[in-house]
Amino acid sequence: MTQPSTVCTKGIILAGGSGSRLAPMTLGCNKQLLPVYDKPLIYYPLSTLMLAGIQDVLLISSPDEIHRFESLFGNGSDLGIRMQYQVQPQPDGLAQAFVLGESFIGNDPVALILGDNVFYGDGFSKSLQAIAQNLTGATVFAHEVSDPSRYGVIELDAGGMPISIVEKPVHPKSNLVIPGIYFFDHRVVEFAKALRPSARGEYEITDVIQQYLNDRSLSVSRMGRGTVWLDTGTPMALLQASNFIAAIEQRQGVRICCPEEIAARMGYITPKDLRRLAESMESDYGAYLRSVARQLGHSTIPS
Ligand code: TTP
Repeated sequence: MTQPSTVCTKGIILAGGSGSRLAPMTLGCNKQLLPVYDKPLIYYPLSTLMLAGIQDVLLISSPDEIHRFESLFGNGSDLGIRMQYQVQPQPDGLAQAFVLGESFIGNDPVALILGDNVFYGDGFSKSLQAIAQNLTGATVFAHEVSDPSRYGVIELDAGGMPISIVEKPVHPKSNLVIPGIYFFDHRVVEFAKALRPSARGEYEITDVIQQYLNDRSLSVSRMGRGTVWLDTGTPMALLQASNFIAAIEQRQGVRICCPEEIAARMGYITPKDLRRLAESMESDYGAYLRSVARQLGHSTIPS
């Protein structure tokens, strides 16, 4: 059945997990609070949602860690957004986000982003905004990787229409995998509620996506090689992400996925608000925020 198109203004960040591949770094600290070069990992997915135009955010994390995010972001007003928090008692799978987030989602569409995924690329914000502004059914991305077996693999026909999705296949049918940002209409809650745990004991996001595929309401957007997608689940991946961000930031003099800057550029806060946020930061990062605030028109305040 054809679904009506709607605007997606809500997003969920899944920032729990066990982080077992990063132990001992994650023994005393949530993975999403580890640094990727100059800022905590969680800033990257939050920035991505904000760039999509999403200002209503539910952050899901473990019972022991949720308070750290609450003290980091509060109710979100510093960034001109609304942040809510939800505990995931155990890391039972990505699809649990929609059951836990049922009252947050209500009858609206929602984006989900994984707390350890980093996206960067010219034009990527525009494509996120285009999807969020006109969502029908579900939209996921497809990105080429060299090691598809570690991910949810998607097979497309010659016209780019999805044919199959398989989670971590031993013999992948393509090199195209689904990165950790997804858009769903409100039916995602009922689809997620109907799931049974997979053989590995998790509620799988691929099983949710499969239901949209069965319903013929799944769209797939190819992420070209100009868009970078990094996950940060292993020590080497985390280091590579830091090196990548550092290389671009050092070379270009701009910061990547800096939520305070994005808030000001998107008009969620004023340059004056940005300047105030920078005041507590005696770091290069703080100096950068002050320079952006000046650039954006708050030049009357001395640095
Ligand atoms: P994963 O990389 O699948 O898992 P993990 O973070 O537990 O790490 P490891 O495999 O090393 O034990 O998770 C992807 C992202 O989703 C990550 O940011 C954590 C988050 N997540 C949850 O919040 N809840 C969950 O139930 C799962 C499975 C993951």
